[in-house]
Amino acid sequence: MHVFTVKTLTRRTDLSKFNCSKDDDLKLNEFIHKEALEYQKNGEGVTHLFYRREKIVGFVTLAMGSIKRNKKVDIVNYSKVNVPALFLGRLAVDNSERGKGVGSYLLEYCVGFAIKLVKNAVGCRYVTLVTKKGYRSNFYQKQGFKIVKSKLDKDLDLLSYNLQAA
Ligand SMILES: CC(C)(COP(=O)(O)OP(=O)(O)OC[C@H]1O[C@@H](n2cnc3c(N)ncnc32)[C@H](O)[C@@H]1OP(=O)(O)O)[C@@H](O)C(=O)NCCC(=O)NCCS
Repeated sequence: MHVFTVKTLTRRTDLSKFNCSKDDDLKLNEFIHKEALEYQKNGEGVTHLFYRREKIVGFVTLAMGSIKRNKKVDIVNYSKVNVPALFLGRLAVDNSERGKGVGSYLLEYCVGFAIKLVKNAVGCRYVTLVTKKGYRSNFYQKQGFKIVKSKLDKDLDLLSYNLQAA
């Protein structure tokens, strides 16, 4: 069983030993080391870091999001244009911690966070994300995420986890 402490990123966070450079075509190592703090300051996503004792084993970056309904909507029903969702913007595990269930734990954390803290405070129907087709998309689908029809590039999937069913 994993026991992690979760802390949000601050300018005092020591990221010097964290490295997620393996299979990193999405440039997540660069993101966490160079961009995440600025991103957070601008209100675009808060990064949650997972510690096993002193070691950072992974991170997720969360933001508000939504899924578009495939419907034409008038002014009365304007608030129904989008279905509210928690957006999982980034997720990565340290190179040395891959294949041990850490990534799965991070996803469970996001769903739990959405249910306990977001859905109980503001409307939130889904956890949603965009990723590349292939093993990443499969990784999320194994955890209960479903592909949503979208007009994304053909190598990408929009995925959602329905909190209503949870
Ligand atoms: C994708 C990632 C988060 C998975 O983390 P992890 O801790 O290694 O994943 P887990 O150990 O929890 O594995 C969960 C499942 O995904 C599968 N999986 C994980 N990485 C895989 C890979 N590279 N290729 C194929 N399957 C993979 C595992 O086999 C496992 O399946 P199982 O439960 O049937 O055994 C990690 O590889 C990573 O950080 N990759 C680089 C960043 C990235 O791509 N993030 C996703 C951005 S959307």
